[in-house]
Amino acid sequence: MSAETRIRPATPLAIAEAAALIRAGELVAFPTETVYGLGADALNAQAVASIFAAKQRPANDPLIVHIATTDQLAQLSPAVSALANALIDAFWPGPLTLVLLRHPELPVMLSAGLPTVAVRMPAHPVALALIAAAGTPIAAPSANLFSHTSPTTAQHVWDDLNGRVPLILDGGPTPVGVESSVLDLSGERPRLLRPGAVSVEAIARLAPDVEVVRRYLDPADVDADAQLSPGLLLRHYSPRAEVHLFEGTDEAVQAALAQGARELRLSGKRVGLLIAEEDRAPLERAGVTHIAPIIALGHLGDLEHVARTLFSGLRALDTLGVDVILARAFPAHGIGLAIHDRLTRAAEGRVQRV
Ligand code: TXA
Ligand code: MG
Repeated sequence: MSAETRIRPATPLAIAEAAALIRAGELVAFPTETVYGLGADALNAQAVASIFAAKQRPANDPLIVHIATTDQLAQLSPAVSALANALIDAFWPGPLTLVLLRHPELPVMLSAGLPTVAVRMPAHPVALALIAAAGTPIAAPSANLFSHTSPTTAQHVWDDLNGRVPLILDGGPTPVGVESSVLDLSGERPRLLRPGAVSVEAIARLAPDVEVVRRYLDPADVDADAQLSPGLLLRHYSPRAEVHLFEGTDEAVQAALAQGARELRLSGKRVGLLIAEEDRAPLERAGVTHIAPIIALGHLGDLEHVARTLFSGLRALDTLGVDVILARAFPAHGIGLAIHDRLTRAAEGRVQRV
């Protein structure tokens, strides 16, 4: 544990201070377009190890390396395929992480012993300025405690990591709100290991044979499947409250939310609802708004907005101290697939089709 963590607005001066910390092998939390990252010099084995310690992250879960220019790729991977280059041209800087063959001199822990390394160029001016000023690629997982909800504000980072990182650069709320898509290009066929902010539909335009890995691993299978991608763990993105996810027609979902909220209240539980704007009026009519706090993430037709508010909505209900969160499922197309994935994992499999 270090001293209390400082939050500084991401001015040029603060970015210069953060870059000096990175060069000295220290940790810095910083905004990207997706979520806040907990960064360290990717080429410094000790600094990389300290990321795992600060997050309480198991050593079998590899990190993403963030770069500011494509020149930095040569330090990370000896083999960048034509497909990788096409995807880079199309999506970088942006929320697409590519899993490539790993440069042999990289710290082993970075890749958790895998022969590959995950790389992306974030589309956020603060992240890019920090990487450029540090003069080194920056390894950064999401800046939350392991398996907790990812942070989309500097305050979220502080709530999880106060005392575990000297400095948080505050760049305001992150504009995308869900993590990058993780695409494995190291095998014969491109495989989407984690759906994210770049949609499968967009990736498939350049990689038509992309395979979407849809398995949710049970924690019991970790050892067997850790080599695939530990981020596939079912228990992930979890708030403290128990999450239940409801899928179905709008009417059926609204009825299930209302009934579930009433039953839980009767049994003495505090319950919160995570809904779409469209659910608000029906739930008001059902009288549920008096018995449970409600957070509407956005309209069903504006999934970009829902993505932006998803993690802060989960955290806000936790802060209100609810025992159970009843959440509606959102359409699983475009960025909606990432939303659906995060909610399913937050629910740890408690998904009900109604
Ligand atoms: O948007 C994002 O990607 C954010 C921001 C900070 O860039 N970062 C992030 O990192 O979400 P993290 O550590 O929370 O998630 C990284 C994911 C994990 O699911 C991990 O298993 C996977 O990427 N991953 C990393 N390296 C890998 C590799 N070599 N092979 C397979 N999966 C890998
Ligand atoms: Mg994470």
